[in-house]
Amino acid sequence: MHDYDVLIIGGGAAGLMCAFTAGRRGLRVAVIEHANRVGKKILMSGGGRCNFTNTGTTPANYLSGNPHFCKSALARYTPWHFIEMVERHRIAYHEKELGQLFCDESSKLIVKMLMDECTAAGVRVLTSCGVDRVEAMGERDFRVHTAAGTFRAPALVVATGGLSIPSMGATGFGYELARSFGHAVLPTRAGLVPLTLSGTHQQRFAELSGVAFPVTAEANGASFSNQMLITHRGLSGPSILQISSFWQPGDALVLDLLPGLDALDFLEAQRAARPAAMLHTVLAEVLPKRFAQRLCEVWLTDRPMKQFTPPQLREAAALLQRFPVTASGTEGYRTAEVTLGGVDTHELSSTTMESRRVPGLYFVGEVVDVTGWLGGYNFQWAWAAGHACGGAV
Ligand code: FDA
Repeated sequence: MHDYDVLIIGGGAAGLMCAFTAGRRGLRVAVIEHANRVGKKILMSGGGRCNFTNTGTTPANYLSGNPHFCKSALARYTPWHFIEMVERHRIAYHEKELGQLFCDESSKLIVKMLMDECTAAGVRVLTSCGVDRVEAMGERDFRVHTAAGTFRAPALVVATGGLSIPSMGATGFGYELARSFGHAVLPTRAGLVPLTLSGTHQQRFAELSGVAFPVTAEANGASFSNQMLITHRGLSGPSILQISSFWQPGDALVLDLLPGLDALDFLEAQRAARPAAMLHTVLAEVLPKRFAQRLCEVWLTDRPMKQFTPPQLREAAALLQRFPVTASGTEGYRTAEVTLGGVDTHELSSTTMESRRVPGLYFVGEVVDVTGWLGGYNFQWAWAAGHACGGAV
C-alpha cells in the first residue's frame, strides 16, 4: 500500500497544476497517468506551440449548465499568474491574435515546466499506470488499485479530461467514476469540432476544399467572426470550430459571407461603378474567386450588374449576409478539441472543486461541465481549476 495525502488521476493540464500546487504546500502527492507520458494534449495543442492562455479570459468565454461556477477559480488564478510562471521558466511566447498566447518554440516547454514544478514540489508522477478500481473505504479514505499497486489517500482528485482524441488517452473514466459516487453527469458531446455536410450540401461545396475566408458564423444566439475553411468533408476553421460548441444537428446555422461589409451597399456601388461586370467578377473582389464562382453557379444568378433589379439585388445581398448552411453533424471526438458537458457543477464547490456529496473527492479541468471557447480558454480553465483544488485539497 502506497500512502499519500493526495492522489490525482490524470496527468494532463489540470492534474499537473493541481499536483504541484498541493505539493508546494508540503503535501505528499502522486499523479497516476495511464498513458506513457503526461500532457499529451498539451503537446499536440496549438499546432505544437500550445495556446496556453488568453489574456482576455472572462467567465463569459465558457459554456456550462451553471455559468457562475467558473468565476471564483478564474478570478483567483488569472492568465497573468500563468504568464508569470512561463516567464520564470524563460519560455518565449507571443500573442497571435485576440489575446491568444502561444509558445515561440514548442509545447514541450510547457510540459517540461509543469514537470519541473512537480519535481520541485516533490510530486511523484507515475506514467503507464492504468487504474483498475477506485474504492472509498470510509470518509476520506480512498484506495486506487493500479498496475503499480494500491494507493491510499484522504483526497482523490479526478483530472481525467474529456473524450476528445481517444488515440491520445482520452477516456470516459472520470464520468464513470463521478456516477459511481452518485454525481450527475450532464450529456457530453464534441465541441470545437469541424462540421460535416452530406448529400447535395456536400456536393455543392465539394470542389472548394481548401478555400478559406473570413465569415461570421451564427447559431443559437452566438456568433463568431473569423476564418472559415472548406474541407472535403464539410466546414472548419476558427469561426466554425467556435460555433460548433453552440450548434447541434437540426439547429439553424447562418453565415455572413461578407463580415464588416454591408452587402447591399457594396452591390449597389458596384452596379453603379461597373454596370457591365458579371456578378461573379464583382464578388471575386471580396470573396475567394472559386467560391464567388460557385455561389453564382448554385445559389445566385450570374448576370451583368446592370441587369439586377433592386429587389433582385436585395435578395442577393440577403443571401450573402445570411447564407444558410445545413450541416449534417460534426466530425465527433476523433478531431474535437474539447468535450461539452461533464460532471454537473451544481454538486461541486466552485472554490475548491470538492464534491458536495463525497468529502475528499475533487473534479478538475475538462471532466467538469465547463468548456471554453477556442483560443487558450480551455487551458486557462484547467490551470485555474487545478490551482483552486491544489490550494484547498
Ligand atoms: P487532459 O486531457 O489534458 O488530461 C487528462 C489526462 O488524464 C490525460 O493525460 C489522460 O491520458 C489521463 N487519463 C484519462 N483517463 C485516465 C485513466 N483512466 N487513468 C489514468 N489517467 C487517465 N486548449 C487550449 O486552451 N489551447 C489550445 O491550444 C488547445 N489546443 C488543443 C488541440 C487539440 C488537438 C486538442 C484535442 C485540445 C486542445 N485544447 C486546447 C484543449 C485542451 O487540451 C484541454 O481542454 C485540456 O487539456 C484539458 O485539461 P485536462 O487536464 O482537464 O485534461
